[in-house]
Amino acid sequence: MKMPNLMESKQRGKEKVKIIKDDFIIDNDLKKIGQDKKYYIKTYGCQMNMRDSETLRALLEMMSYTEADNYEQADILLLNTCAIRENVHNKVFGMLGRFKHLKESRPNIVVGIAGCMSQEEVVVEKILSKYKWMDFVIGTHNIHRLPQVLDEALEKRGLKVEVWSKEGDIIENVPIKRDSEYKAWVNIMYGCDKFCTYCIVPYTRGKQRSRMPEDIVKEVKELVSDGYKEITLLGQNVNAYGKDFDNINYNMSNLLEDVSKTGIKRIRFVTSHPWDFTDDMIDVIKNNENIMPYFHLPIQSGSDKILKLMGRRYNKQDYLELFNKIKQAIPNASITTDIIVGFPNETEEDFEETLDVVNKCKFDGAYTFIYSPRVGTPAAKMEDNITLEEKELRLQELNKLVNKYSRLSNEKLLHQVVPVLIEGYSEKGNNTLMGYTDTFKLVNVIGDEKYIGKIVDVEITEVKSWSLNGRINDAD
Ligand code: SAH
Ligand code: SF4
Ligand code: F3S
Repeated sequence: MKMPNLMESKQRGKEKVKIIKDDFIIDNDLKKIGQDKKYYIKTYGCQMNMRDSETLRALLEMMSYTEADNYEQADILLLNTCAIRENVHNKVFGMLGRFKHLKESRPNIVVGIAGCMSQEEVVVEKILSKYKWMDFVIGTHNIHRLPQVLDEALEKRGLKVEVWSKEGDIIENVPIKRDSEYKAWVNIMYGCDKFCTYCIVPYTRGKQRSRMPEDIVKEVKELVSDGYKEITLLGQNVNAYGKDFDNINYNMSNLLEDVSKTGIKRIRFVTSHPWDFTDDMIDVIKNNENIMPYFHLPIQSGSDKILKLMGRRYNKQDYLELFNKIKQAIPNASITTDIIVGFPNETEEDFEETLDVVNKCKFDGAYTFIYSPRVGTPAAKMEDNITLEEKELRLQELNKLVNKYSRLSNEKLLHQVVPVLIEGYSEKGNNTLMGYTDTFKLVNVIGDEKYIGKIVDVEITEVKSWSLNGRINDAD
């Protein structure tokens, strides 16, 4: 049993991060464990978690498991969890309730969780007292140990908890089974050192560790030769890429430039903290056609007082200046954001400041959230002094405004011809294909299978609140 420890996960040691480039192998006796058995993985949370699920999947397939169509058919059921807000926890525990039910009729199924919730002491304590019937809990820092953890859970037939509180080395060759054949997630860094006062991520993902530029470029080159069209560079705070290197002077703009040279058709990156966004980055993005004009730039709040309490290290004015600088340099840039309402001590006036920023920036889109206290974070110690009713009213008002501008920005594309990477069939069925514009807007088009995986010119014929409809003009 290895339990998470919040105090330990908070510490930032000076020890050097090792980069392990050995081939990734698992013992022969683990390779057959999953023969004739199926697995089911459900992923919650951010793109980094989706990327981790691609590794969890590959590890299970190394053990001969195959993917199930639904959880009822599976022999191993794994939830890759997110700790960012309480409502995700409720969903995960709700799902575990269903799995418990299934286990009553099929006692041999194996149920486990991975991801950020595993790193939380409160979660593991709850599992140990009320979910003892589960089989394993594995953390974010040791997902490469899934085969061993699973093996032990199967041997002992008891709940196995293996969570490392502190991040380990960067392990380069852990296998991946990617979700798509056309677009890929590429980790460029792990962890986060920003410690925004409301946020659990620095505790669940450990200290910032950047991958070496050559390893990232090598991965992208391989993706190009495998026919991938788009990559998204992933980090909690990609602008801080390289700040943790102590012997090389290399930053996010250098990386963007080098990745751009690989010839990949489309490059995206998430997430950008406004604090570390440099002019060099804007120049590189502007000057390289294959870096997409799309920015996810979370503001969180428009009030200087709240931003300070959140520990974001910029104020409303700084944000607006950066926003305008990007729009000036790259006029067609689309910019989306994240906003939290109901942070402790947020008054009506503070909230008005947030609405004011939304009115000024007219964002292409925004993810909006009600503040959720996370155990162990500094904000959780502040008095949560706004009623739920008030928080909900603010959220509704904010969403109304956000939706108005999102629709307006979509309307600007009506009758324009825009490049779309066709990813596959839309959920709408009936020959409807879907894909995203360079500016990351969802487009549905009627078309033939032959367009899948291609970047095509699409004329926008109809605008909806959340998506666009269009007609294909030409294929690349
Ligand atoms: N690294 C990114 C954000 C990652 S978390 C950044 O700093 O921009 C994604 C979003 O979840 C955050 O931008 C924030 O808006 C929201 N979030 C994080 N912690 C939260 C909390 N405790 N309550 C509500 N929303 C939260
Ligand atoms: Fe959380 Fe802030 Fe780090 Fe983003 S930058 S992951 S909000 S601590
Ligand atoms: Fe959630 Fe962890 Fe991502 S808390 S948002 S899955 S880093």
